[in-house]
Amino acid sequence: MKLQLATWPEVEAYLKTSDAVVVPIGSTEQHGPTGLIGTDAICPEVIAAGMAERNVLVAPTLSIGMAQHHLAFPGSITLRPSTLMAVIRDVVGSLANHGFRRFMFLNGHGGNIATVHSAFAEIHCESSMAGRASELHLELFNWFTGPRIKKLSAELFGDAEGSHATPSEISLTWHAYPDRATDTVLDPKRAPDGDFRDAIDYRNTFPDGRIGSEPDLASVAHGERLYTAGLEDAMEALDRLRNK
Ligand code: NI
Repeated sequence: MKLQLATWPEVEAYLKTSDAVVVPIGSTEQHGPTGLIGTDAICPEVIAAGMAERNVLVAPTLSIGMAQHHLAFPGSITLRPSTLMAVIRDVVGSLANHGFRRFMFLNGHGGNIATVHSAFAEIHCESSMAGRASELHLELFNWFTGPRIKKLSAELFGDAEGSHATPSEISLTWHAYPDRATDTVLDPKRAPDGDFRDAIDYRNTFPDGRIGSEPDLASVAHGERLYTAGLEDAMEALDRLRNK
């Protein structure tokens, strides 16, 4: 069940059966010359939509994340880490008020990880400083590090996966939006690899936006297989959270 397509009595009824909610979280940032700017939000949103068909309540996607390092490319949008932490805190606080206790943030962006964990620590500080046990179970699950996804990505793409604008994430977005698939050939075939500091440094080091990847290898067919693997990984992670 998608929260946005539910009524409040339906949410109240759901809460009698489960206190778990999935919150997809992504980013709005460049993904190389052929990847969609919404890639990191689309991927968890698509997997979460599959979960919503399996009787899981799915909150609206938090589509804008922490992407300061992408700001030298047009169209990228970031929240400051402090803003994103405040957003997460308010989303959790709102739903906890209704009785939700288990939160799975289904994440599509590596740049969100540190900030989401810091937000969880901020939330737990409330109870820790008051000397009481927190009732909340807050989990971050990155769809791209699930066991089935990692195995399938390695099998399909090997070293060509890279770390940004990867053929796996591009394939998954093309599965969701096949009319956006392209057979454009990129030069160089494999993007450079390395570190970055801020937005200007990133663009100087990775001029077309990719890091270490060969998104030319992406396809709609691969995206369908990755979707199935990602959905099973996410359901397994949610089952672990439900049993805590
Ligand atoms: Ni990405």
